[in-house]
Amino acid sequence: MRSSRRAAIVAAAMAALLPVTACGGEGGSGDNTVEVFTWWADGGEKVGLDALVGVFDTRCPAQTFENGAIAGGAGANAKQVLASRLQTGSPPDTFQAHAGAELVDYIAAGQIEDLSSSYDDWGLREAFPPGLIDNLTYEDKIYSVPANIHRANVVWTNKQVLAKAGVTQAPTSMAEFVDALDAVRASGVTAPLAVGTDWTQLMLLETVLITVLGPDEFTGLWSGDTDWRGAEVTKAIADYDRLLGYSNGDRDALDWTDAERMLMNGRAGFQLMGDWEAADLDAMGFRDYYGYFTFPGSGETFQWLADSFTLPRGASNVDGARCWLETVGSSDGQREFNTKKGSIPARTDADPVNYPPYQQSAMADWKTATQVPSCAHGSACSQGMQEAANSAVAKFSTDHDAAALQNALAQAAEQFATS
Ligand code: GAL
Repeated sequence: MRSSRRAAIVAAAMAALLPVTACGGEGGSGDNTVEVFTWWADGGEKVGLDALVGVFDTRCPAQTFENGAIAGGAGANAKQVLASRLQTGSPPDTFQAHAGAELVDYIAAGQIEDLSSSYDDWGLREAFPPGLIDNLTYEDKIYSVPANIHRANVVWTNKQVLAKAGVTQAPTSMAEFVDALDAVRASGVTAPLAVGTDWTQLMLLETVLITVLGPDEFTGLWSGDTDWRGAEVTKAIADYDRLLGYSNGDRDALDWTDAERMLMNGRAGFQLMGDWEAADLDAMGFRDYYGYFTFPGSGETFQWLADSFTLPRGASNVDGARCWLETVGSSDGQREFNTKKGSIPARTDADPVNYPPYQQSAMADWKTATQVPSCAHGSACSQGMQEAANSAVAKFSTDHDAAALQNALAQAAEQFATS
């Protein structure tokens, strides 16, 4: 019954992508079900979501969770459906949105409600670090509750592949990384670096940009303080193209999980991906077989992003959505979710002892490393800029026209300048 209702909503949302002029309609569930809209449909992402739902069930016994997840890494499919539902006044009861510039898109469009008073009621102002609160705040109001902090600039490895190639140490510079890629290729792995579709390519480009420009100038690319047309960006694109030369030719057709399978079955030795990969590899029983290191040359930098949950304007089960949001911000909710999701808690009161080894190292780094945002995951740039950047790297994946890529990124930054 519930799933057919959801199917109907999704069908309506997809239909709304067509040029239909009717609008309005009721959003949300209209009863005690809480439709939670994410893209955490499979693998480690779903394991994380399920753990959070377990806490929700305990804390909110009068409410029933309804899974509105739409598969596709980084929300590639979900965001399109969500945009349509928001436009047609048919929102879910709550949806996932990244802290930072992406959240501002929803706020500026008047699509989500102010949660400032709930922050006071639930003691959340003290629970999260001030920098994160800043990234969630717009014109003195707070519009979402963060579930976690993810790190984007991590390289995951297949230990057996690296051992066979004689790669015994994590590379710490671009030159060492290229040597390691050469060694793995020489051992018989033709595409040592597993890469997927556009947004995964944007992640790789961003990490190279961090390495070449350093954290401050990298952050300046998104604030308008660093020139996209500068010589260092040209160099970063050249390095990035070099890395693409070690990757799989079918990258444009692969989601991050497909590229991850290449790593798991030994068809690649390395993959740059956010630390949701730890959760996914663990969920598939691969924990003893993978290694990880921060992208060579960006080790002192923590490229962060945060998943947060919102209260959409027009949600029909507001009480249920609030109970979900309170669960998301709670200590037990954050612990159950983040121990499974590969991320670290946004709350500052978590005890590392409760976390797997990877998250313990990320929790330590979060305190000491320089924090930079991610455009591929919405903390650095608006959705318009993100779409333009994804298109530009996808084109580059085929034509390798470095000047055109740099120009497209510079033009997009001008077009979508936020300040
Ligand atoms: C990110 C999201 C993560 C993870 C990843 C891959 O945008 O913040 O939680 O789900 O996409 O799908």
